[in-house]
Amino acid sequence: MTETLHTTPANQQWGGRFAAGPAAVMQDINASIGFDKRLWRQDIRGSLAHAAMLAACGIIAPTDERDIARGLEAIAAEIEAGSFPFTEALEDIHMNIEARLTERIGEAGKRLHTGRSRNDQVATDFRLWVRDAIDGLAAQITDTMRALATRAAEHAADPMPGFTHLQTAQPVTLGHHFLAYVEMLSRDRGRLADCRKRLNECPLGSAALAGTSFPIDREATAQALGFDRPTANSLDAVSDRDFALEFLSTASICAMHLSRLAEEIVIWCSAPYRFVRLSDAFTTGSSIMPQKRNPDAAELVRAKTGRVAGALVGLLTVMKGLPLAYAKDMQEDKEPVFDAADALALSLAATAGMVRDLRPDLARLREFAGSGFATATDLADWLVRVPRLPFRDAHHVTGRLVAQAEARGVDLAGLSLAEMREAEPRITQDVFSVLTVDASVRSRTSQGGTAPENVARQAARWLEHLA
Ligand code: ARG
Repeated sequence: MTETLHTTPANQQWGGRFAAGPAAVMQDINASIGFDKRLWRQDIRGSLAHAAMLAACGIIAPTDERDIARGLEAIAAEIEAGSFPFTEALEDIHMNIEARLTERIGEAGKRLHTGRSRNDQVATDFRLWVRDAIDGLAAQITDTMRALATRAAEHAADPMPGFTHLQTAQPVTLGHHFLAYVEMLSRDRGRLADCRKRLNECPLGSAALAGTSFPIDREATAQALGFDRPTANSLDAVSDRDFALEFLSTASICAMHLSRLAEEIVIWCSAPYRFVRLSDAFTTGSSIMPQKRNPDAAELVRAKTGRVAGALVGLLTVMKGLPLAYAKDMQEDKEPVFDAADALALSLAATAGMVRDLRPDLARLREFAGSGFATATDLADWLVRVPRLPFRDAHHVTGRLVAQAEARGVDLAGLSLAEMREAEPRITQDVFSVLTVDASVRSRTSQGGTAPENVARQAARWLEHLA
């Protein structure tokens, strides 16, 4: 049987030894232009720096460099305007732009690829893209932190129930709760900064895998592209994607943090809780149940964490076991990174929006802050502080009083002094002063504790820092 698939012409960029073009399915599986066109700005930036360096080193003529620069700028304008003729036959963004350059400026365009390979080119472009994404996300994290710190300052003294195991534990302040997320996001921002520092080395000039025989100046291109230095080993430079993995793991942790706040917002908005209310701007209705007000944005922030973490696991799996140096497998690095960066950007924007939008029901939060024997620890602490019981004994006495109050259907302050004294004769009237929610939160003055004065100070410190 005759093979009828190879009817297209050979690739104009690398097809010298090929008599015919690829099978349709070969082109389909091979082409990345559908998604890597997102690298166009970075690709043009990289090519401008490369051409300038080639001319400065006497590898191409200054007139060629001038034509290349003009041609690339015209191409940037075409892409911006949406008139660039992207084609699958040219596989990826690198060959689409290079072929178009030669189409526009002729001979000089064909000199651009001197002393480089798509392997160092894509590694450079992708580092530049991830670096830009990091800068954008870091700014968004800062904005989300500012939203949280602003609400924290506003609610520094407003009590709410603090939970462990999602069971009422001790009263905390709403401001303290918001500031917990500010701390988490600040570490996320720090991790992004660390990742940026490590990725900021320039692979350009590593060529296919072994370096090049042309007298190139890698310091010059590294500097022109804002890198701290050129990478040190050409094999490593073209074949590792640890910078993308580090970005994805940092993004996963940040998304995980956002998912916890999102989950809390979902719970807090639910009818049995009604701790907060989101406005029409951040809720949706149901097509069948007219009474519904659903916190879809919070649910989606919670869910997008799965995509981001999935991207990390996906790329780790692609990279696992790949022999050095470049392999086409690595073309699969881009979609997970693009998808995770998009998901995280949306999640941060939605989170900042919801934090600014939500209206807490302060009376209800205060009421629940005191329910469920939330000040039992305060009673035990009083027994340690005043009649000087060992903490373990104080815990036991308090436990008996909780059981008694529960049986009678009252809270701890609802027990009489006589009842308390039956459990522990050294208890005095003074104990009732520690059983209120306000007394409880006011007393938590240890460093990092929930006392309103601490929270107000921390919120002010953050707001100043984030200004
Ligand atoms: N589109 C390719 C990628 O993203 C560019 C590098 C191709 N290199 C090669 N030797 N085929 O990985």
